[in-house]
Amino acid sequence: MATLLHVDSALWPEPASASRAITAAFRTAWGEQHPDGTVIYRDLNANPVPHLNTLAASAGYTDPADRSPEQAAAFAERLKLIEELEAADAVLIGAPMYNLAVPSTLKAWLDQVILMRRNVGVENSPTKGTPAYVVASRGGSYAPGTPREGYEYVQNYLQAVLGDMLGMEVDFIVPELTLAHIDPAMAELAPLAEASKAKAHEDAVSKGKAAALNAAAA
Ligand SMILES: Cc1cc2nc3c(=O)[nH]c(=O)nc-3n(C[C@H](O)[C@H](O)[C@H](O)COP(=O)(O)O)c2cc1C
Repeated sequence: MATLLHVDSALWPEPASASRAITAAFRTAWGEQHPDGTVIYRDLNANPVPHLNTLAASAGYTDPADRSPEQAAAFAERLKLIEELEAADAVLIGAPMYNLAVPSTLKAWLDQVILMRRNVGVENSPTKGTPAYVVASRGGSYAPGTPREGYEYVQNYLQAVLGDMLGMEVDFIVPELTLAHIDPAMAELAPLAEASKAKAHEDAVSKGKAAALNAAAA
């Protein structure tokens, strides 16, 4: 039975959140192909995971037999998140751009689940080859060729950690210019924003369906 791990991190609920609307469309398409599949949902805005602290970090580098009781307790919480990621057949992440980067709640989750010598820096990482679909919503545009291309720290960062470190197959859906509808200075970009939203929705449905079919064939 296939499992989808769905992680959202937007501050606003639907329908205000572009990323939540698109991850929901993906999840629905995935679920239609997989009525018996399991979806594990983490809303990092409603229920943030703790920042990685000294105990949980040091426990990750300490042999289980040598961990203090405090380290063991901290690591048990971390391990739940790590195992949830490693057991997923596909991962869906809503990653809005806040101040040019990912939400701090998403960064906290990544710091918890990325563990050297377990899923990074090993030949057969349990996350190797797992598809990761990232909905990278943003108020402006940071697309190649735009003036702000050099400030794109969401896709570049997530490609590096999910793809290069964890070995996942990363695929982005990018609803951009989402502020065009509320920022008068961006009003003339509204048609482009609409087109981007429609394309993101279309991509979410087709990729959600394809992800489910790939999982079924695996
Ligand atoms: C705290 C905060 C910071 C933001 N910073 C940026 C930014 O640096 N660049 C940008 O293009 N949009 C920025 N935005 C706009 C969001 O990226 C945009 O509203 C996007 O649609 C957020 O995703 P969501 O709709 O899923 O919440 C920011 C929004 C908030 C709330």
